[in-house]
Amino acid sequence: MPRILITRRLPGRAVEMLLNTFGQANVDLHDSDVPITRAALLSRVQGVDGLLCLLTERIDAEVLDAAGKRLRIVSTMAVGYDNIDVSAATARGVAVTNTPGVLTESTADLAFALILAAARRLGEAERFLRSGSWNTWSPTLLLGVDLSGATLGIFGMGRIGQAVARRAQGFGMRILYHNRRRLSAEQEAEFNAIYVDKETLLAESDFLSLHCPLSPETRHAFSETEFRRMKPSAVFVNTTRGPVVDEAALARALREGWIFSAGIDVFEREPEVHPELLACENAVLIPHLGSATRATRAKMAEMAAENLIALLQGGRPAHCVNPEVLV
Ligand code: GLV
Repeated sequence: MPRILITRRLPGRAVEMLLNTFGQANVDLHDSDVPITRAALLSRVQGVDGLLCLLTERIDAEVLDAAGKRLRIVSTMAVGYDNIDVSAATARGVAVTNTPGVLTESTADLAFALILAAARRLGEAERFLRSGSWNTWSPTLLLGVDLSGATLGIFGMGRIGQAVARRAQGFGMRILYHNRRRLSAEQEAEFNAIYVDKETLLAESDFLSLHCPLSPETRHAFSETEFRRMKPSAVFVNTTRGPVVDEAALARALREGWIFSAGIDVFEREPEVHPELLACENAVLIPHLGSATRATRAKMAEMAAENLIALLQGGRPAHCVNPEVLV
């Protein structure tokens, strides 16, 4: 019977599904809401056939080697898999699977929540009210910017970027996008989205929302040069991965008024947040909650379990990012 390691307590039926399939004796669960330590991961992964991990674990050659020859699958409960060295896994014949699709709508909702919150200064407004500073209704109190008629720039037009575009249509926004590959004419018509280069996206967007994966090409894709090219009235939103943005440059852009505000869900060194960003009143900052609804997190965990079960039972997992290892 295959043996597996699960690196965290999971929502939904995922653990039950794995226990029913592999038996209690073969399932090692780090039954905690606190991440497994690197040392514990390196020791407990030894001799397992499957690893179910989260985005908080770095799965590199050292972990794959510690696991040893039996390891056949690393199943992450996330759509992003930048924490996994996929080429090292492929070189060892280990499948890497993820959980796309089920989190698209929840993540697009959260991106939109941040677009609205940063446009209308909701973080600042709530702090103002709770601090007891509110004395009177004022025609100039906490003024924000409108979505209706504004231009939304989407950087990364995959599933989540497209779901954000669908929402933006309902708000009466003009939609520009930049993507590695241009969408078909039918898709562009469906989303009412115009393809532009990155320069144009920066210059013309009133709102700019990131939906690209983190890769060597997108690391620090938004840095001082980019923020300087944006409108001083622009709202910047990041719900993808922190390192796509140079956090120190973002803090400077917010502090010095190169842009109006930001809504940020992901950070360069989670759970740390750059102190200069923490000091920016015009940033709405939340702790990586893109897919955080009860239903979606349960589905993600169950999909991660299904991917792992499928492969270890000789089938094809539904979502493999290196299918070349599947024979
Ligand atoms: C969450 O950030 C994910 O990649 O699913």
